[in-house]
Amino acid sequence: MIDTHSHLLAGVDHGCPDLATSVLMARAAADSGVAVVVCTPHLPEWDETLIGRAGMVLGETRAALEAAGVELELRLGFEVDLNVAATADTTRLSVLTIEGSRGAILLETPYSGWPPFVEETIFRLSTQGFVPVLAHPERNDRIQKSSDLLVRCLRAGAVAQGTAGSLSGIFGRTSEKTFFRLITKGLISLLASDAHSFQADGWTMGPMLAALKARVGESDLLTLTDDNPRRLLNGKKPHPVKPANGRLHRCGWMRS
Ligand SMILES: [Fe+2]
Repeated sequence: MIDTHSHLLAGVDHGCPDLATSVLMARAAADSGVAVVVCTPHLPEWDETLIGRAGMVLGETRAALEAAGVELELRLGFEVDLNVAATADTTRLSVLTIEGSRGAILLETPYSGWPPFVEETIFRLSTQGFVPVLAHPERNDRIQKSSDLLVRCLRAGAVAQGTAGSLSGIFGRTSEKTFFRLITKGLISLLASDAHSFQADGWTMGPMLAALKARVGESDLLTLTDDNPRRLLNGKKPHPVKPANGRLHRCGWMRS
């Protein structure tokens, strides 16, 4: 599997406090069957110092994993604030893409509200050769009410990435319900951990995959965690996945 969203780099954002914890998180990922982790520290504003530090910490972490015998490939990316994506030029945004992907860029979906420039930004990025990935749309309060906003973003060129924390309970029952609704409708193309050190059961994709097992068949889970992430890292747009055995719940939240 390939995990396209993780905060395991130490001291770059709030994701991980020190290198020793990075190694523990990396070992947990490798033990769960992950071969590649994309390290995606938050980039809330354009910050050359943070971008430079992320590259330096990545090198230190790779060396620490090798010394500890952890077989896990790390790639650098960022979880980019939408305002940065909307205002930075193409050259700057290229620096933020997932290493080696030739254009995949992870965008942080806001938790509440919906900036008026989202679709336009996604369309501009996708026509400039980027593959915009919307992280955890299931946590946004507007998408929780209706899938339409996400559908419009996908039409504008985005792909959607569901993340493990949304099924952990810490973001509330509505995020969880929305996650299941989006995946059942075939609007999610990628699954990732969004690992933070303070949430140990979210270090890997394991608990999320266990929760999805009853609704998403093994082959579709493989597409969401391996085939599509691999496409993304190779500069290709992931295919949408509509689970063959996805089933709708009878309760009201499935209607929107
Ligand atoms: Fe994240």
